[in-house]
This record gives sequence, C-alpha cells and structure tokens, in this order.
Amino acid sequence: MSDTIKYTLDEARIPKVWYNLVADLPTPPPPVLHPGTMQPVGPEDLAPLFPISLIMQEVTTDREVEIPDPVRDVYRQWRPSPLYRARRLEKALQTPARIYYKYEGVSPAGSHKPNTAVPQAFFNREAGVKKIATETGAGQWGSSLAFAGALFGIEVQVFMVRVSYNQKPYRRALMESYGARCIASPSMETNFGRALLAKSPDNNGSLGIAISEAVEIAATRDDTKYALGSVLNHVLLHQTIVGQEAIEQLALADDYPDVIVGCTGGGSNFAGIAFPFLGVQLRGGRKVRVVAVEPAACPSLTRGRYAYDFGDTAHMTPLTKMHTLGSTFMPPGFHAGGLRYHGMAPLVSHVKELGLIEARAYHQTQCFDAGVFFARNEGILPAPEANHAVKGAIDEALRCKEEGVSRAILFNLCGHGHFDMQSYMDYFAGKLTDQNYDENELAMALAGLPSVPEPA
Ligand SMILES: Cc1ncc(COP(=O)(O)O)c(C=O)c1O
Repeated sequence: MSDTIKYTLDEARIPKVWYNLVADLPTPPPPVLHPGTMQPVGPEDLAPLFPISLIMQEVTTDREVEIPDPVRDVYRQWRPSPLYRARRLEKALQTPARIYYKYEGVSPAGSHKPNTAVPQAFFNREAGVKKIATETGAGQWGSSLAFAGALFGIEVQVFMVRVSYNQKPYRRALMESYGARCIASPSMETNFGRALLAKSPDNNGSLGIAISEAVEIAATRDDTKYALGSVLNHVLLHQTIVGQEAIEQLALADDYPDVIVGCTGGGSNFAGIAFPFLGVQLRGGRKVRVVAVEPAACPSLTRGRYAYDFGDTAHMTPLTKMHTLGSTFMPPGFHAGGLRYHGMAPLVSHVKELGLIEARAYHQTQCFDAGVFFARNEGILPAPEANHAVKGAIDEALRCKEEGVSRAILFNLCGHGHFDMQSYMDYFAGKLTDQNYDENELAMALAGLPSVPEPA
C-alpha cells in the first residue's frame, strides 16, 4: 500500500448546511445572562455587536442551518479540505493504530478560521455593516477575518495580543496585505487599553483584553460591529463543515473513528471536527471517544471552574456558563497564542459536563516535540496550537501499541505553522520553557467570578 493516502471529495460535496449539535443534546446549554439583570439575554441585547442573522444562528435549536451560496462559493477555493491517513507516522510510531488527520491548513490564511470568517463577513455585508473590529491571539483569526473582509468589502480592525504581535510580525504583515489594520493590544485606542497601559506599560496582553478592546470599539460606534473567532455558538456551528466532510471521507476509507482529538483554545476547531460525530452518536449511531487537548499553562477545561463568567477582561460581554480560569486570569506568554484564553466555549463546556468528551492538558515543549516528529514523517509543519492535537493523537496511538489494539484515531490538523517559525527557532535553540501558571493568580481570578443566583 502506498504511504500517501489522501481522501478528497468533489467540490459538489461541500456541505450545504452547518450542523447544530444543540438539536441532538439531551439537555440544552444554560442560558446566556445579562450581567445587569441576571436574566437571559434577548437578541436586542446583542444587536449592537452582531447582525441579526448571526444572532439568530447563535440561539437556534434547528439541527441544520443552510450555508448561503456566496459562502459555499468562497469555500470552494479550498474545500473540501483533504483528509490524510498518516501512514508514515504510524510506521514511525510502530503502532497498530490507524491515524487520520483532517488538514485545515489549506485555506488562504492557513487554518480553520476562514470557515467562520467568511460567513461572518458575508452576513455582516448583507446587514450593511461597513467595519468590523476583532481580536486575535496568534494572528490566525485576524488574518482570516482580514481575508474575508477583503472579499466582501468590509474594513477590518484587529487588536492583536501584544505577545503574539511581537512574536509573529509576518501575521501582522499578512493582515495588512489583505487591507486590515492591526494594533498591538493593550493599545492606546480604547479607554480600557489606555487604563491598562497606565498601570503596566509592559502588559503582554491576553485574548480577554483584546476582546474588550474590540467590543469597546464596536459598542461605541454605529458603523462598526464585532466578530469573534471562537467560543460563540455560531462560530462553532460554522466549523462543523470540517467534521461533516470527515464523515464522508472516512466512509471512502471504509473506516470510522474510535477516538477524535482536537486542540482547544476557545473550542471552535475541536467542535468543528467532533460535533458532527457526537451528533451521530446522540442520534443512536456509533459511539466515539472525544478528547480535547489544551495547554497546561492555560487549562480551562481541566483546571477551570464551570461557572458563569465574562468573556472578556473589561466585563463588557454577557455572562456565559463555561469552564473558566476567571476573566482576569493572565496566562504566561507561551507560544500557542491561540490557546491563551481564560474560558471555553459554553457548548464545549456543556458537553464536557454531560460526560460526552474528555480533556487533557500538555506543556508546550512536549507539543513541539510531537509537532516536529509529525513534520519529519508527514511533511506538514503544524501551527503551535495544532501541535497539541498532534501530541494527543500520538499518545492515543502509543496507547494502542501498548494495548496491542488497532483503533482509528482522527485529529484536526487545524493549521500550518509557516508564520510561527520564531517559535520553532526558539524550540530548536532550547529557549522554550514549560511555564506554569501562577496558582495565586488563578485563585484570585476565580475569587473574582461574578456571583449569579441559582435558577429557581
Ligand atoms: C491554528 C489555531 N488552532 C487553534 C486555535 C484555537 O482556537 P479554537 O479553539 O477556537 O479552534 C487557534 C486560535 O487562534 C489557531 O490559530
């Protein structure tokens, strides 16, 4: 058998709908609350930030949401994305496991993020929005929205977490190439940013802070809306094309995953690959083990509390129930910038509470070890975030070897690392350290969680 096995689908097989897991869950996720009234938010509360079409997707309980033709038309540029069988990796590990990976690095921005950037820009354009403000961690999301904004004629302003802004200058250049404006966060452009910089001029930033800045811009300007690259239901919904395609591609391989692995920052690429399979299971089909892999330096699913919290540091967002480290938690400046978020998607948190998924955390050097090993066998250099999924999949494959069983393992290779070479250079120079988060800081951040009355 050839070593390179690639399962491709004709572009007519790009899904026509996004899949909504909420329709198949035994219990619905807890409501999103208004921080003032502690009552469930209505569409009108979210209207300053998002167009109504996306708000309706946020709250829908329909199983399927139609993908508009202009969005499918853009998807055609790189979708369906390939699914590979990692035969060389299997051989190198001497494992009986069958390892498959869905490769999302083939998109123009190099990751899964355009899967949601494109529909978000489209629905904003349809609503007459001229400008979108957003945040970005590693720069993957910012460049994806910049790309989508360019296609649909929308101005894009990106607040990039300062530590990543300094580590990844080429991501910023990519955003600017697409016509977006990229600003290091915290910045002098918002009240919140100015206040933080006055207190600590060296503030490294965090996703929570960058979100606050982008929300402040959107909430205070009539011509500007806000877009988020992860966490929210509609973002996870858009990503489900990944898992839907994988189901078809694995059918071509005459296989079905026993284990699915994804890395989790806010939870969107993980949900994208896992939710369609969980839907099959919940509708009475085959069961899968689903493993979320997160950074040990920012471990919301494994160490966070399942509680209502703000999505941002300045407390401008509604309250969502999620696994959280506390909205003021400041993770150390490790290299997977896209995983440095204090909370987890409410829907991913909910399925964790329902016992439908597992979670585990790894330190960054072991993830880079795994990513480099993967590149030397499969040729693709993963993004630092994706290295967490690679590490999780390799550990599952080694477990198969120990137990002498052949399982099918599917993971989401959610992006390439071509703009992350500084982190690989640091890794090869032995400069990457495994930083632990500060336990006192975590305790303080958790102590600051908002108190929300239990529902009657
Ligand atoms: C390549 C890559 N993977 C994963 C993530 C984490 O986000 P999510 O958990 O929403 O997939 C990011 C976020 O920026 C990313 O850039």
